[in-house]
Amino acid sequence: MSEKNDKMTADKLRSRWWFDNPEHPGTTALCIERYMNYGITLEELTSGKPIIGIAQSGSDLTPCNRHHIELVKRVKDGIREAGGVPFEFPMHPIHENVRRPTAALDRNLAYLGLVEILHGYPLDGVVLTTGCDKTTPACLMAAVTVNIPAIVLSGGPMLNGWRGSERVGSGTIIWELRKRLAAGDINYDEFLSRTANSAPSIGHCNTMGTASTMNSMAEALGMSLPGSAMIPAPYKERAAVAYETGQRSVAMVWEDLRPSDILTRAAFENAIVVCSALGGSSNAPVHINAIARHSGVELSNDDWQRLGHEIPLLANIIPAGAYLSEEFYRAGGVPAILYELLKAERLNGETLTVNGRSIAANVEHSETCDPEVIRRYDNPLVKHAGFLNLKGNLFESALMKTSVISREFRQRFLSDPDSPDAFEGKVVVFDGSEDYHARIDDSALGIDAHTILVMRGAGPVGHPGGAEVVNMQPPEALIRAGVESLPCLGDGRQSGTSGSPSILNASPEAAIGGGLALLETGDCLRVDLKNGEVRLLIDDTELEARRQRLKAAGGYQYPAHQTPWQEIQRSLIEPLDRGMTLDMATKYRDVARRSPPR
Ligand code: FES
Ligand code: MG
Repeated sequence: MSEKNDKMTADKLRSRWWFDNPEHPGTTALCIERYMNYGITLEELTSGKPIIGIAQSGSDLTPCNRHHIELVKRVKDGIREAGGVPFEFPMHPIHENVRRPTAALDRNLAYLGLVEILHGYPLDGVVLTTGCDKTTPACLMAAVTVNIPAIVLSGGPMLNGWRGSERVGSGTIIWELRKRLAAGDINYDEFLSRTANSAPSIGHCNTMGTASTMNSMAEALGMSLPGSAMIPAPYKERAAVAYETGQRSVAMVWEDLRPSDILTRAAFENAIVVCSALGGSSNAPVHINAIARHSGVELSNDDWQRLGHEIPLLANIIPAGAYLSEEFYRAGGVPAILYELLKAERLNGETLTVNGRSIAANVEHSETCDPEVIRRYDNPLVKHAGFLNLKGNLFESALMKTSVISREFRQRFLSDPDSPDAFEGKVVVFDGSEDYHARIDDSALGIDAHTILVMRGAGPVGHPGGAEVVNMQPPEALIRAGVESLPCLGDGRQSGTSGSPSILNASPEAAIGGGLALLETGDCLRVDLKNGEVRLLIDDTELEARRQRLKAAGGYQYPAHQTPWQEIQRSLIEPLDRGMTLDMATKYRDVARRSPPR
């Protein structure tokens, strides 16, 4: 039951401007006659029913979200049942694995498109269909920018993948299989067939990659119905929650419950805490900082470390843990995580959610039903599981996901008794992923078990949109010798399904004058996790001399634009630590109220 009183009346609905506007009879006529063409009645359009948009993210190009095509039928049933009129419309497609050069180009493009649709069409509220990684942030960024009542419906993760009795996590297994292929343990055919087995049903990735993380973040922020984020896509509960989401979207219009009521600073701070407890994707800080900036909340990577680093890992799910989404959902899903964190007084329980209730009220009885899969706060998998925000003489901010630092990595790099949280190593530098693939197996590079691999030219300007390439696999010869991973540092991102403890998202990036552009193969780096520092061990005069030489050579060179949007985005995009938003866009807020239709 809602705790908010109804605030909206039929005559104030924004859709009335289009559908029932005696001052603009011409506009009204044009809108009515065309929408009636496909069977909507005059009564539906003119009797003061809320018009609810359904932002459809599914298509043949976007398999992770494609089942929304079926699912929205139940959303429409719910909308009609609650007295609204559904209008489904397509979003710009976003598919993480297939889009080249990167789906990061699509997040901001889909955001822009959705803002225009929500602002320019007769919509009183919207259901946002999410799934694959960047569909969630694109939707939330647009919803809070326009600020009409909005509710997220996740499509849910796919079922568990299996190989015999072994769980196989989508995305994560591919990183592993690539190593097996490189080591000669499997051939190409086996590589393909095992990859195919890892994705057994409709739905988004079943690991705690970026998709599961961002849909869980939407729920933790209060933007989807409690317990809905991680219902596996094929389960019957998924269709039921689609119906409830549709119903709820209409009530939200009458209550005038808007994204800006929900997406407050306290909600974002909660999201940071929840992300740590989930062992969430290293893309989450980028997307959450972006949604926050569009909400008028300045959130930085310092906030992520301050609020998140000490939070324990509670979700035992791949890549940081052992299970997959089906077990996570059965153990209680996001509500069980929220419950543990609230009990430990790590969350603000007062934040509002789309059902009109507080987060604390929603999860009152949501204790974990499987403490092996969702751990109790005092029995975590990792004690401090959040991100570290590293700084130094090469960049202002770079993230490290501490929940995935393996025992092997600790023994090899963090075992000096005098300085257990620090290590030093010589770097081998690559300029973009093509350079990496071309040279990684070149024995002349002298890569050994203590080398630090550096990837630059992979930020939002260097590789238009920012590439998920920083988690670099060691040379084949080293893998065959048993060295499965090396520390990596870069100005790009890495896939959320990767379990690599890389130092990522170094901002500013090489392409806009960041310090990684000054690194040379053979340089020595010191990484000090305790003091949050990465330092290039050369003196300041040499560093300055390199800076001057680079400047004289015209700066760091990156590939030419391939499309108009790549050029536009490169000219406007902000660094990864600021959410990779478009520079001018974040000043537009509450667009629907500030700029009513005319
Ligand atoms: Fe779409 Fe993982 S590739 S969710
Ligand atoms: Mg990804």
